[in-house]
Amino acid sequence: MNKSNIEGFEIRELKTPDEIKKCIDLQGEIWGLDELGKMSPITLEAMVSEEPKTGIVLGGFLHDEMIAIQIIMSTLEPHTVYLHMLGVLKKYRNLHIGYHMQEHLFEILRKWNINKGLWTYEPLEGRNANNYLNKSGARVIKYLAGHFRVNDKMSGGMPIDRFLTVVHLDDKFHTSKLHERHPVLSLNEALQKIPIAKADFLPETDEVLVEIPDDLQQLKTTNMEEAIKFRFDTRKIFTEYLNNRGFFAENFYTGVIDGKRHNYYLLQKTKKAEV
Ligand SMILES: CC(C)(COP(=O)(O)OP(=O)(O)OC[C@H]1O[C@@H](n2cnc3c(N)ncnc32)[C@H](O)[C@@H]1OP(=O)(O)O)[C@@H](O)C(=O)NCCC(=O)NCCS
Repeated sequence: MNKSNIEGFEIRELKTPDEIKKCIDLQGEIWGLDELGKMSPITLEAMVSEEPKTGIVLGGFLHDEMIAIQIIMSTLEPHTVYLHMLGVLKKYRNLHIGYHMQEHLFEILRKWNINKGLWTYEPLEGRNANNYLNKSGARVIKYLAGHFRVNDKMSGGMPIDRFLTVVHLDDKFHTSKLHERHPVLSLNEALQKIPIAKADFLPETDEVLVEIPDDLQQLKTTNMEEAIKFRFDTRKIFTEYLNNRGFFAENFYTGVIDGKRHNYYLLQKTKKAEV
């Protein structure tokens, strides 16, 4: 068990039919998935069984109420897992619960001798980017256009594109005492020194910045047209740099300029030694 700094919070592996049912309900509440999109009870029953161990299903509990879930699948790659889902109920977001779930999971994975985790996430969600890249030490390696085809209220009808992301639990981020990866430059310095790529401007530099919405969910409710434009413009940029030019992202800038949050990925060319 592991506590976040919220009093009464703990993380534990789900076991009972009631917990499995609640985990399925939370998939509807968090992502707005319909019945076809949620995981089935029989699949989750198989994943929580001890013999054979096929996965890990965690619940985050606040005073015994399940408020977060995390679902991890084993893969055919040695020492590697796929982090399928991590979600926190809306009213408990931004309290570092997602971060604590991730950290707790990494401890469990180390005990199973797992050192690599792969997952996908919505590239335009600043909260996820901040959490995964800056705080969990992950690296974005590929852009997956139209990756999922499900009905979920969260994507609100936008094509469901994803970043493919990897974390190496034995790399220097996770083994260093600081356990942090700060961007070398501040947001303002980065904006002065690094070009911002646009759908019609894809510079031949070793580094580019790519802007994403300050708050995607909010933008979808106020200006869906602009949200869709972000989807298709950034799809073009990310596909070019990540998939065609072999760039990666492991730093995310977020900061307030003139009273408004601004979010940028830093995309960097992979050095030969890192391939
Ligand atoms: C993604 C998710 C799991 C993160 O969990 P969480 O508990 O809300 O996140 P945390 O509180 O640990 O961290 C959020 C970080 O993002 C920052 N953040 C919040 N809103 C942001 C925004 N619009 N842009 C950039 N950063 C933002 C917070 O300030 C915090 O960083 P800090 O610790 O440096 O201040 C949760 O928000 C969630 O369930 N989202 C919906 C489902 C989802 O998208 N799941 C992930 C993909 S499957």
